[in-house]
Amino acid sequence: MCGIFAYLNYHVPRTRREILEILIKGLQRLEYRGYDSAGVGIDGGNSKEWETNCKAIHLIKQRGKVKALDEEIHKQQDLDLDVEFDVHLGIAHTRWATHGAPSPVNSHPQRSDKGNEFIVIHNGIITNYKDLRKFLESKGYDFESETDTETIAKLVKYMYDNRESGDISFATLVERVTQQLEGAFALVFKSVHYPGEAVGTRRGGPLLIGVRSDHKLSTDHIPILYCSSGKDKKSCSTLPRMDQDTCLFPVDEKAVEYYFASDASAVIEHTNRVIFLEDDDVAAVSDGRLSIHRMKRTAGDHPARAIQTLQMELQQIMKGNYSSYMQKEIFEQPESVINTMRGRVNFDDNSVTLGGLKDHIKEIQRCRRLIVIACGTSYHAGVATRQVLEELTELPVMVELASDFLDRNTPVFRDDVCFFISQSGETADSLLALHYCKERGALTVGITNTVGSSISRETDCGVHINAGPEIGVASTKAYTSQFVALIMFALLMCADRISMQPRRREIIQGLRMLPELIKEVLSLDDEIQRLATELYQQKSVLIMGRGYHYATCLEGALKIKEITYMHSEGILAGELKHGPLALVDKLMPVIMIIMRDHTYSKCQNAFQQVVARQGRPIVICDKDDYETISNSSRTIKVPHCVDCLQGILSVIPLQLLSFHLAVLRGYDVSLLPPPRTHPPSHTSPIPPLKLNRL
Ligand code: UD1
Ligand code: BG6
Repeated sequence: MCGIFAYLNYHVPRTRREILEILIKGLQRLEYRGYDSAGVGIDGGNSKEWETNCKAIHLIKQRGKVKALDEEIHKQQDLDLDVEFDVHLGIAHTRWATHGAPSPVNSHPQRSDKGNEFIVIHNGIITNYKDLRKFLESKGYDFESETDTETIAKLVKYMYDNRESGDISFATLVERVTQQLEGAFALVFKSVHYPGEAVGTRRGGPLLIGVRSDHKLSTDHIPILYCSSGKDKKSCSTLPRMDQDTCLFPVDEKAVEYYFASDASAVIEHTNRVIFLEDDDVAAVSDGRLSIHRMKRTAGDHPARAIQTLQMELQQIMKGNYSSYMQKEIFEQPESVINTMRGRVNFDDNSVTLGGLKDHIKEIQRCRRLIVIACGTSYHAGVATRQVLEELTELPVMVELASDFLDRNTPVFRDDVCFFISQSGETADSLLALHYCKERGALTVGITNTVGSSISRETDCGVHINAGPEIGVASTKAYTSQFVALIMFALLMCADRISMQPRRREIIQGLRMLPELIKEVLSLDDEIQRLATELYQQKSVLIMGRGYHYATCLEGALKIKEITYMHSEGILAGELKHGPLALVDKLMPVIMIIMRDHTYSKCQNAFQQVVARQGRPIVICDKDDYETISNSSRTIKVPHCVDCLQGILSVIPLQLLSFHLAVLRGYDVSLLPPPRTHPPSHTSPIPPLKLNRL
């Protein structure tokens, strides 16, 4: 949940003030991902000569919001903001809840030494950092932070200090560093030894490069440069020949600017021409030329990276009139579900077309089982639709949390079809599970929101949910669109089954009504805000339901935990008597979901059990269910829809409730605050260090 932004101007004169403004603006665009601290690294020195200024790197880092960093920048006495740079690289970072408490020393850029010879910004987690640190400490390197990232900065200096020749390229140094790293990362490096040069690389974390130039560019496909032989160290340590067959540059050596970012939203206001890096690409800008390097060629490698044109508009990612992205996205749901169905569901002839699956649907129909794999909210979308998937596909359906699925080494076979649900398309555990299933020969299907994301690209086929960018940290509109996409898939699977036609028609007509029904639920906002004022000082909220609404309980509880820092638990009402009932008394806030479907009488029983323990549940129910309304002291009345879609309508009140609870509890919902404590973000065992490669 960190943000990377770097800006390199080449023959585009910029004052230090302008450079810092660009860096700060870039960070602000990434801030929605959460923050606990931020930092920038720029050329120091106040001389008129660039050669002097680039001999020192100046770091400014601050705890808190990007605004606090901006204020810190303006406090710097020894920094002349009017000095002009014809060529310059500045790197910047926002950090959230990674190793070490939020503090300037733990924020990025991290440095190799007190002289700032090498600095680096990093998204992700290095799982073998403890071993690397031990190794580097044994070589005399002193560490100042608690971060995993500092080992990267020190490792690159170690590689530089131990280089075999003077003309080693910056890209080669970074390649050697990444060979030692385990885990997930996106990195951008800057060094006093390579002034005006940038190197960026990724493995398991997104990184893209925006290019801006008023001049013609040498190519629109940057070829990959391979290290010619692994044995011959020298062959990949020197700079490659630089012409239009090897790199990108403005013809006639003209002005160009490069933007490295972990997210397109930071780049889009400068340029819409971007290059998405692949895992293990090392991208280097030297003398204004961008080249992309890889250690070795593997089967299926694309020989080049294309410059793509982003269609995203800045206003698409702006907040509009809402107080936060989360609120905006909750209220966008009538439109976002339409966008998911647009061109795919024909309400006149009750047909469904999914362009991304049409060539694979026969194969899917022949499969042995469906495995739906995801994390967090996306996992809940799988839980929510499992029953209707089983009903309409008549296949066994497993719904799996990606991390647990991997921990169990779950058996997967060639005749399995594995679905990967992900808003971002970049979630590390989901991606790892995707690789695991591909290795075992299963057909892989993505349900993703982000076109061009890793999951979207690496799955065999899939469906883009087209919900529009989801910027709020808590997933809302992506959940309802994933839900709709999975329903559309189930409908497609039984399109030829005559016996299923009445049920299909009922569901498709339910989808037609959905946007209007969502609007009706959203109109309950004031009522839900009032409810939040009654609940926000409580320590805990229990949410109970069953059948189609068990997923709503899990998702509602996750939303409350994630953004309000209150304890909340989603409880399967069928399990109440097996333990959870002990939590209920007259003080414990309980929300129950009772809908008029096949679980209705069982839910009524659960309601009675809670009341018998003096509980006074707030019930989310059908607005026409007079029995429940008259029996309950407090209800949230939602419109009726076909049973398998009702979960979309029952979750929205809980999205709204979590939003209002967070606001009332004083959290800035648009920018998720850091948790109060910072436990280590990974618990996996640290693999042994391959010291022989160092
Ligand atoms: C596509 C176009 C859409 C256009 C429509 C017209 C894209 C991204 N979409 O939509 O703009 O209006 O045709 O017919 O160009 N895929 C995966 N994994 C995923 C998601 C998708 O492999 O996680 C693949 C699909 O199999 C497909 C492609 O990406 O090959 C595009 O998917 P999707 O956007 O869902 O397809 P359409 O709905 O046909
Ligand atoms: C978590 C988020 O980090 O990732 C959740 O806090 C989200 O809200 C989960 O649901 C999975 O993300 P994605 O992008 O794979 O759907």
